[in-house]
Amino acid sequence: MTQLSEVLQETTQFIRSKGVKEIDFGLILGSGLGELAEEIEETIVIPYDQIPFFPTSTVVGHAGQLVYGKLSGRKVLAMQGRFHFYEGHSMQTVTYPVRVMAALGVHSVIVTNACGGVNESFVPGDLMVITDHINFTGQNPLIGPNEETIGPRFPDMSDAYTAVYREIAKEAAKKLNLSLKEGVYMGYSGPMYETPAEIHMSRIMGADAVGMSTVPEVIVAVHSGLKVLGISCITNLAAGMQVNLNHEEVVETTQRVKHSFKALIKETLKLL
Ligand code: HPA
Repeated sequence: MTQLSEVLQETTQFIRSKGVKEIDFGLILGSGLGELAEEIEETIVIPYDQIPFFPTSTVVGHAGQLVYGKLSGRKVLAMQGRFHFYEGHSMQTVTYPVRVMAALGVHSVIVTNACGGVNESFVPGDLMVITDHINFTGQNPLIGPNEETIGPRFPDMSDAYTAVYREIAKEAAKKLNLSLKEGVYMGYSGPMYETPAEIHMSRIMGADAVGMSTVPEVIVAVHSGLKVLGISCITNLAAGMQVNLNHEEVVETTQRVKHSFKALIKETLKLL
């Protein structure tokens, strides 16, 4: 057995020992969006600091625990708080929880985030289904030896954000009478917000939104053979499109739209 598989086995054995059984969907809840986990029923809660080989989250507004249970009648394992490259974790560490979800048998992940709007038709508070991404982090979590039992050396990213899932999210939004934007997410490493020139470049390159997460996790999800749905909350207009940027505004916007966000994910889960 190779190293990653061995480490994963220890983590998954521990999680199973807490009573976690079958899981359909992994949920990764971004900044200010962790409250969705409070709606999970019949829960088993496992703080990250108890889990072997799990890192701990340092970002304010991230609870740092796994929440297992039922949401919209589906068996889910939610990450309430994620890990970011800018915290100083390696890309392998940032994406380790996705490896764990795959090893626990999830078939799909729903990845969420707070991000800046680059598309000039977006306004703060918009929800966006991610159609595709641009990895602009300068990093890649798959660099290093590849374990063929886990995934292929050269994964195909042509349908990284599963097309049928995107359609289902749109259908859910329609049912709820919610406007749902769609677009390309460009992932930066952070932690500073971008410059106006970088945002200008991002728009020319085809980005509709920019953020500091999601891309590494989705790369690993695809490598692990998982289906992916990505939902972004546009918390602000990106640099140069509004006066200035700050984390307080990001949190405020997620608080303002959390009801729509939660409703959208729950309705989508019902239809998936
Ligand atoms: N840029 C990058 N990440 C973000 C932003 C932004 O404008 N807003 C929220 N996360």
